[in-house]
Amino acid sequence: MVMICPSMLSADPTKLGYELAAVEAAGADCIHWDIMDGNFVEAITFGAHVVAAHRKISKLRFDAHLMVENPDKHIEKFVAAGSDSIIIHPETTKHLHRTLSNIKKVGKLAGIALNPATSIDCLDYCSDIVDIVLVMSVNPGSSGQKFIDSQLNKISALRKILPKTTEICVDGGINDTTAKLCIDRGANSLVTGSFLFKNAVVSNGYASYAEVIRRLKN
Ligand code: DX5
Ligand code: ZN
Repeated sequence: MVMICPSMLSADPTKLGYELAAVEAAGADCIHWDIMDGNFVEAITFGAHVVAAHRKISKLRFDAHLMVENPDKHIEKFVAAGSDSIIIHPETTKHLHRTLSNIKKVGKLAGIALNPATSIDCLDYCSDIVDIVLVMSVNPGSSGQKFIDSQLNKISALRKILPKTTEICVDGGINDTTAKLCIDRGANSLVTGSFLFKNAVVSNGYASYAEVIRRLKN
């Protein structure tokens, strides 16, 4: 069964805690935190204190997708905040193997995020210490972008070379059509931002996400 990982970047920023509780109750499997530093990408989003505050109200896996330069400077803080995985971009560290090893050393899942133009070759000598490969099907930096079709072949290529236990997660432009294409190629988990948060049925000011999550899983 595929895992659905809502990205809090697309949630209503004035009520993040309620949104998280709502997606958890609706069947989400994991919470995806898009951490942006205004440097590797233009936007600035959540600090570790935001993740830590939400850790207290959720039992779900927390993924910290670090779109930041020098991720080594931040790993400890996001681990202390309660992240279960740390996902980094190979372009942001001079010593990819060391950075991934540092995540493993503190007992967390190590993830590597591949931008649309980034080759899978960077996994040649570190796939043994990678738990999650995040296929970016949009360029990092914002939600609501269109899915880049060429990434489907990347998912197939990764499924062939990676052990079955390595998770392939797809991030960007996921909707009920692209979700199926990714699952067919071997993806095990999907990040959902704008599709989930914009298609929910809202009543009394609160959204219901169960139906959208069900559509993505099926
Ligand atoms: C993009 C982020 C994504 C994004 C997904 O930089 O990594 O997680 O929030 O949003 P959608 O699903 O709207 O493309
Ligand atoms: Zn992301």
